[in-house]
Amino acid sequence: MEIIYEEKSRSFLLQTPKSTYVIGIVDAENFVGHAYYGPRLMEDDVTYLMRTGEAPFTPEKNARDRLSFLDCFPQEFPSCGVGDFRESAVTIKDKGSHVASEFVLESFEIVNGKEKLEGLPATWGSEEDTKTLKLTLRDKVLGLKAILSYSVFEGIDAIARSVKLVNEGKDPVTIEKIMSASLDMDNREYDKLILYGSWARERYIDRTPVNYGVQSTSSLRGEPGHQEQPFMALLEKNATEDQGEVIGINLIYSGNCTTLADRNQFDSIRLMSGINPEGFSYILNPGESFQAPEAVLVYSSEGIGGMSRTFHDLYRNHLIRGEYRDKKRPILINNWEATYFDFNTEKLLDIAREASKDGIEMLVMDDGWFGNRYDDNRALGDWFVNEEKLAGGLKYLVDEVNKLGMKFGIWFEPEMISPDSDLYRAHPDWAVQIPGREAGLARNQYVLDMTRKEIRDYIFERMAAVLHSANIEYVKWDMNRPLCDIGSASLPADRQGEFFHRYVLGVYDLQERLITEFPHLLLENCSGGGARFDAGMLYYSPQIWCSDDTDAIERLTIQEGTALIYPLSAMGAHVSDCPNHTVGRETPFETRGYVALAGTFGYELDITKISKEDRAMIPEQIQMYHKYNDLVRTGDYYRIASYSKNRYYDCYMVVAKDKMEALVTYVQVMGRPNSHSRRILLKGLCPEKTYRIEGEERTYRGSTLMNAGILVENLWGDYKGKLIHILEA
Ligand code: DGJ
Repeated sequence: MEIIYEEKSRSFLLQTPKSTYVIGIVDAENFVGHAYYGPRLMEDDVTYLMRTGEAPFTPEKNARDRLSFLDCFPQEFPSCGVGDFRESAVTIKDKGSHVASEFVLESFEIVNGKEKLEGLPATWGSEEDTKTLKLTLRDKVLGLKAILSYSVFEGIDAIARSVKLVNEGKDPVTIEKIMSASLDMDNREYDKLILYGSWARERYIDRTPVNYGVQSTSSLRGEPGHQEQPFMALLEKNATEDQGEVIGINLIYSGNCTTLADRNQFDSIRLMSGINPEGFSYILNPGESFQAPEAVLVYSSEGIGGMSRTFHDLYRNHLIRGEYRDKKRPILINNWEATYFDFNTEKLLDIAREASKDGIEMLVMDDGWFGNRYDDNRALGDWFVNEEKLAGGLKYLVDEVNKLGMKFGIWFEPEMISPDSDLYRAHPDWAVQIPGREAGLARNQYVLDMTRKEIRDYIFERMAAVLHSANIEYVKWDMNRPLCDIGSASLPADRQGEFFHRYVLGVYDLQERLITEFPHLLLENCSGGGARFDAGMLYYSPQIWCSDDTDAIERLTIQEGTALIYPLSAMGAHVSDCPNHTVGRETPFETRGYVALAGTFGYELDITKISKEDRAMIPEQIQMYHKYNDLVRTGDYYRIASYSKNRYYDCYMVVAKDKMEALVTYVQVMGRPNSHSRRILLKGLCPEKTYRIEGEERTYRGSTLMNAGILVENLWGDYKGKLIHILEA
């Protein structure tokens, strides 16, 4: 990792192990241009790629065609209103409502380490393993400063970018759009990869060509949602899972976001990512600053799989924090699909007693323990224990669970308020709403105005009181509806456009307070399943519930899409009962265990009611988790086959960093008549090493396993699964 300034060529070289990123300073005016992002270069001058030697030349040489220059120059931070007619990275309105800005370089510094982003989640690093380039740009007319930060990390092919605006002018300005990263590059027949979805079908993978014009994936729900991800990758046409160049971008943010590719007249592509400008505006008074979220760029010359592994390494080592970051998570049993709202102390203790016998390590009490919460129509906001359900109180229940040798976890939905709640009756104005317009309900609930500190203080005080009242070691933080009818009583008319962003900052503030007050707490985020599975949330919680769809076969697709960016250590995955509550499918208990093993692993069923045969498998599954979790959590992930593409089978593997061990998960989704055994080519092993497959006599060289492969026999039936454990011989 290195950041170098080359005086002669006026360029900055950001070096990661296998990639180089080059920024060039151009013309007497100091335009900041993008010259190169690709395979690692030696220290050589590639600023010619900015084509400033070609007509229309730079304004210094050809002032009469300034606009033509701006309209094609590859910019690092393109602004709007002065001649670059492509998508802008920043749109500023001055006090007279004119929309124009032009940022040019004023100064720069290269420092060891990386500063925190005020109030926002971001990657982190030490002075030894991280370096940061800070470019200070200025719009001279507005007096507005833009600080562009670029950080590189030891051993990782990623660059973290962010932008901070500081108003050093005399007048207020309004930010109407601010992208965290923008990248101009020549189109090389790129395809684009995005993740799309819906409730119970989160993060499906979609690959299409980049066509002319703007193509985006954007959220307006106040969170990324089940539907969108703040992610896009550009792929060379021939790039595959294992080969070819891929550039991925992911925003570390949990609110409205947009990621887009704008292919233009000169066949270059502008890739950018940031806060969704729709519904956003932010007033910056003189002396004030605005920090935009961080975006991460990943370069891979090893195809899509290489990109995923880099994101995993970066997020495991430089984003996720806290005690559980590198630790095996306790195997939990959650009562949601077991009881829904119909539970009491005895029922929970029955579940815990049985679970403890099999080695399950934590009971999580889900929705329904507070206020008048007998169904999902009421009581959100009333964070007081319902002692009618929990006879003897919360502490009694937790103590009893602890006596069984198990930990205890609890569910909250801190951002919500039910119209039928004591909190709403006392503070109807705490709900997000537009005066004079009836706010829409979703799951019969409103959203609390998290931009208001007094509301956050109240919620924090209630949560902390509950958490201090007993030995609670885990919190599931849920959020079951998107945001709309946006209005805050605390914001003046001209600042309502700040709501969405301030809401997210409020959520971050509350989560930070929670993990600071309870440093040993394991926090799991959740949003009606996986509507807020994003890198922002991972800064606060090392794991996120992936989806309300717990069916093992559906989960293959959901977890594959999730693992495109996010590490397996972060994916909340449980074994649930059959017929599955979302799709009605019957799958073998064994297979459900194999699929949940690719995530945090746990149970979501009534252990007192499942069949004897299923129950008998739980202790084995628990042993399996203990045997493989270190490998799954810390290893390198390789996709081998997706049943969503081939109809018949799914296969992926995790290889230990030292290449001494690997675990292959194979699921035969559909049995196929009259077929041979299937030949599977393994990946990521050391070609020279000798391996054995657990349970077999013979040994194989790594190169054999990867090139000749192994044969997996027909498993007779649908939804059958198999683990193949590979060890260095
Ligand atoms: C949605 C979550 O995804 C579920 O696991 C469960 O916690 C429910 N909410 C509870 O309302």
